[in-house]
Amino acid sequence: MKALYSLTTVVALAAVAFLLGRVDQLRLVLGVIVPCAAMTAFLAGVSYRVIQWSLSPVPFRIPTTCGQQKSLPWIKAGWLESPYTTAGVIARMALEILLFRSLFRNTKAELRQGPRLVYGEDKFLWLGALAFHWSFLIIFLRHLRFFLEPVPHLVLALEKVDSFFQVGAPILYVTDVIMVVALLYLLQRRLADPQVRYISLSADYFALFLILGLALSGIWMRYFTRVDIVAIKQLAIGLVTFSPIVPKEVGSLFFVHLILLSTLAAYFPFSKLMHMGGVFLSPTRNLANNNRMKRHVNPWDYPVKVHTYEEWEAEFRDKIVAAGLPLDK
Ligand code: HEM
Repeated sequence: MKALYSLTTVVALAAVAFLLGRVDQLRLVLGVIVPCAAMTAFLAGVSYRVIQWSLSPVPFRIPTTCGQQKSLPWIKAGWLESPYTTAGVIARMALEILLFRSLFRNTKAELRQGPRLVYGEDKFLWLGALAFHWSFLIIFLRHLRFFLEPVPHLVLALEKVDSFFQVGAPILYVTDVIMVVALLYLLQRRLADPQVRYISLSADYFALFLILGLALSGIWMRYFTRVDIVAIKQLAIGLVTFSPIVPKEVGSLFFVHLILLSTLAAYFPFSKLMHMGGVFLSPTRNLANNNRMKRHVNPWDYPVKVHTYEEWEAEFRDKIVAAGLPLDK
């Protein structure tokens, strides 16, 4: 049911964008005002969340570790599993961010007949997540060709590598296939596994359907209905140079793509998708575990008015004596 709500919302958004895109008077709203408002919400929202996180006190070093902490010289320390230098922290973070290392170690618990609790490996989630995130990044970078003139060599090189299959015309991008397959796997995992389905919220499905809608509308534009790329590039460059225009050649289908993207951008800072920023700011990941090498004094430590046991005992002495309870003094 939750999945159905989310799917209906995304389909409704796409349908509204498609229909409104046909109304001449609304093209400026859909092509300029909505994307600009969404971008403003994205930048303001992300800045707000990052500022809030950076203002939260982190009085203790709380890195999660799964290795030996650095202590005496004859005890072998795990420089990566329990990093105690900045280089170790950077290496561990890089492996986490680029390869989702902790997800690779993810295990799955299953209750089998007996009853017997069985733990097993679950590499598919890691593979699906990695495939989805990397293809999204590559597609995002390839899209820079719409915003930059001349198109940077890096973007052209990325397009070449991505289209190495050279299937059909227009050439098939491998990342398009990988992204859709990965998203469908991530969706079916939520729906097929009763445990995952139980803990899934509408928001979990919404993000997946929204990104799937974005990808499918892009794929439709590229492989099924050809769109006027020159006109779209004019619109894109107009947006980033603050001189907006919506050429009349820009079709309704592109507005579907743009409105789904605008929804994603505006929704991003207020959703779980903010893990993209959070992973960098997580104190369980970005602090070195050097507690035995260095004394860390809590910088937020301020004098606190305390009420010691001695004071409490003195205050209630008569009552404690009357109740026949023992006294320290
Ligand atoms: C990060 C957000 C975006 C995602 C995930 C995305 C996804 C996609 C995908 C998967 C395709 C299929 C073809 C390909 O991979 O190039 C595509 C095509 C396309 N996208 Fe996007 N898109 C995004 C943002 C945008 C933006 C901001 C624009 C505005 C300029 C845009 C305009 C287009 C156009 C014009 C096509 C058709 C390309 C062609 O015919 O070669 N997309 N998009």
